[in-house]
Amino acid sequence: SQGGTNVNRDQSNPNVKKSKDENDQTLTNRQGHPVTNNQNMRTVGNRGPATLENYDFLEKISHFDRERVPERVVHARGAGAHGYFEAYGKVGDEHPSKYTRAKLFQEKGKRTPLFVRFSTVTHGTHSPETLRDPRGFAVKFYTEDGNWDLVGNNLKIFFIRDAIKFPDLIHAFKPDPVTNVQDGQRIFDFISSTPEAMHMITFLFSPWGIPANYRQMQGSGVNTYRWVNAEGEAVLVKYHWEPKQGIKNLTQKDAEELQGKNFNHATQDLYEHIEKGEYPEWELLVQIMSDDEHPELDFDPLDDTKLWPEDQFPWLTVGKMVLDRNPEDYFTEVEQAAFGTGVLVDGMDFSDDKMLLGRTFSYSDTQRYRVGANYLQLPINAPKKRVATNQRGGQMQYKVDLGENQNPHVNYEPSTTDGLKEAKQSGKEHTPFASGHVVRESIDRPNNFGQAGDTYRHLEEWEREELITNLVNTLAPCDERIKSKMIEMCHQCDEDYGKRLEEGLRMASDGNNSTQEPIGAEGAAGAVKEAEEKG
Ligand code: HEM
Repeated sequence: SQGGTNVNRDQSNPNVKKSKDENDQTLTNRQGHPVTNNQNMRTVGNRGPATLENYDFLEKISHFDRERVPERVVHARGAGAHGYFEAYGKVGDEHPSKYTRAKLFQEKGKRTPLFVRFSTVTHGTHSPETLRDPRGFAVKFYTEDGNWDLVGNNLKIFFIRDAIKFPDLIHAFKPDPVTNVQDGQRIFDFISSTPEAMHMITFLFSPWGIPANYRQMQGSGVNTYRWVNAEGEAVLVKYHWEPKQGIKNLTQKDAEELQGKNFNHATQDLYEHIEKGEYPEWELLVQIMSDDEHPELDFDPLDDTKLWPEDQFPWLTVGKMVLDRNPEDYFTEVEQAAFGTGVLVDGMDFSDDKMLLGRTFSYSDTQRYRVGANYLQLPINAPKKRVATNQRGGQMQYKVDLGENQNPHVNYEPSTTDGLKEAKQSGKEHTPFASGHVVRESIDRPNNFGQAGDTYRHLEEWEREELITNLVNTLAPCDERIKSKMIEMCHQCDEDYGKRLEEGLRMASDGNNSTQEPIGAEGAAGAVKEAEEKG
């Protein structure tokens, strides 16, 4: 086996479109011409040569040559499903309108269709789903007011707090540009000079860095947004998803064993549960803060390397999500799906979180390149409501987003004839005030190690052991200065954390049996040694 497994396919999937004539199985080309011979290309005699007017052959092969679009620069490996969001009509005990006028939350039982894509971050489209990596958790809500995308991860915090560092972070985690091999030395070279990453590293190298599958993991919007009510008043908000299936993570050993048998396990697990009618569900919760700088906190509320303490900012339930339908076609729906942090509906707004602002440019920018200028016309990305714009043309435009009463000649605004008109404001506009010098400066209150230490202390003992072992295995082959910087930073998080990493690295260097390995993995050397010992 090549790690392939049999996925249970329901051949009678009612979602798969049948041709008009149920019995017509005739193969055609893409011009609708019947294909009478799909086994032999047209040649001069049965030994060739071939001729250039071979239209069917050239069409078939040239389409095949273009089957791939560029994979996502991050989060390339993913799985998706359709479902719905059902509002509780309350945010905790309050009516949602206290905080936001977003329509999808207001009424109890109101359903909004949605599409979710889960993913791993670092490696390519067919990489194993057992790797130590954050997991993406992106949700597209097709609301009556247009689309809302909540583009999150499983973990609630992130490595960095300024978007300008994102390409460097990703380069360090991606394979080496020369060897094309992921390299712990490059990762920790970057991390050891990025102290704000210690909190995320503490989660990532613990078992929380390998969720068992997509159904049994949490989600979080990570970045801070604003909610805006009808009076134009705003609060800061963070979103979280809590799986009703419970949370399950894997140890490094569990993951390695699983990977030997099935490297597609998470996609398969999601697909099969939905096929069987065991629909996974998550509850949506929010944390809310008044919209100010909160000088009483020892961190900046807009710093995405920090958790908002639950005792001060309780998790409030908002609704639930159910995934009840598999995609009909992976490429059309999952691969071409395009999520972005800019995609908000009325009643929601951006905060000044510097990561959120950087992300908001990046998503639609990459999608114009990855999918094409008209990516929003594809059914998976298009809102399920009226779209009427003055934007025209671009590659692969296949329809005109023309308003019902719009004169097709008037693709501009303002116009005195039958052109589109601006919408009325549905509530008072939120008009945040900003003033200050334009600078390049990091935020005050970085507090890089405080919460990382809390998180370390909150882990269970077996999780701490895993964390240390995984860090030791990856750091052991690294340069001494990287190791000492990491030990020093762990000490700053928690004395015990630093001490155990230092001891672990000393023992590893005494044993001196390590080699360059993928993150957290026991790696080739360990496996070979084990095999040799077993004889
Ligand atoms: C995907 C950029 C931080 C979650 C992507 C993509 C880009 C990107 C370019 C590929 C999108 C596509 O091809 O459609 C950035 C930048 C970041 C950042 C510049 C920081 C400044 C984050 C954070 C999270 C996150 C903090 C988690 C909250 C995701 C997810 C996807 C994604 C879930 C996959 C979406 C999908 O399934 O299609 N990101 N990202 N990213 N990012 Fe980020």
